[in-house]
Amino acid sequence: MRRPFIAGNWKMNLDRASIGAFCAALRDNPAPSGVRVGVFPPSVYLAEVVAALAATDVVVGAQTCHSERSGAFTGEIAASMVKDVGASHVILGHSERRHVFGESDGDVRLRMTAALAAGLDVILCVGETIAQREAGATAQVVLGQLDAGLAGLEPATVTDRVTVAYEPVWAIGTGHTATPDQAQDVHAQIRARVAHGYGSDVADKLIIQYGGSVKPANVSELMACPDVDGALVGGASLDPNSFDALLRFES
Ligand code: 13P
Repeated sequence: MRRPFIAGNWKMNLDRASIGAFCAALRDNPAPSGVRVGVFPPSVYLAEVVAALAATDVVVGAQTCHSERSGAFTGEIAASMVKDVGASHVILGHSERRHVFGESDGDVRLRMTAALAAGLDVILCVGETIAQREAGATAQVVLGQLDAGLAGLEPATVTDRVTVAYEPVWAIGTGHTATPDQAQDVHAQIRARVAHGYGSDVADKLIIQYGGSVKPANVSELMACPDVDGALVGGASLDPNSFDALLRFES
């Protein structure tokens, strides 16, 4: 049985007061026990969120980290720093990192190495653009990003420390959610690829989140897909009530 994992990627949103109130709401209103919950605040608030949620099971992580351990990388944060403030996870390869900030598959792979070495678990994001989908290249793009991100990892690392998030770029922040069939189709291909490379035991345990305009109105139908094990949510994770509704999807 794979435990559903629903995570809020707050991106560059919210402020100290609203994040404090959000954490209080998470403390007061725990998710159903079968659901794993995560929040990924802007990095300046990481330590505060870790402290505010210390008595809960909520996973706290950063939205990215750099591949180098330290040095002259103005504006970046090291994986060890994320770990040092008590966070346990990091999102890597988000489409905004790839497309807005120009991260390549190679960059993502180096960041994976750094994050895992620092003791962070990783949510590895993969996803195609609309042009790639229309050109029939979805599988090639998504599985290529997956292969690059996982290259060289031990099976136990993939099983225990990596979550994959399928986030079609055309669905992010657009209101155009992938249909359950579209999501299931790609998720099944991701799981089959991991089975091929790492064995079916690893693939069967792998948590694959869907991301892209997930909201309370569509989370249940997406979560009903056999290979959709969770959600990585942007816009609908910014309001505590909406996020809470996501955690209470119908199963
Ligand atoms: P939206 O839920 O706003 O589409 O964002 C999805 C996402 O990018 C989560 O990482």
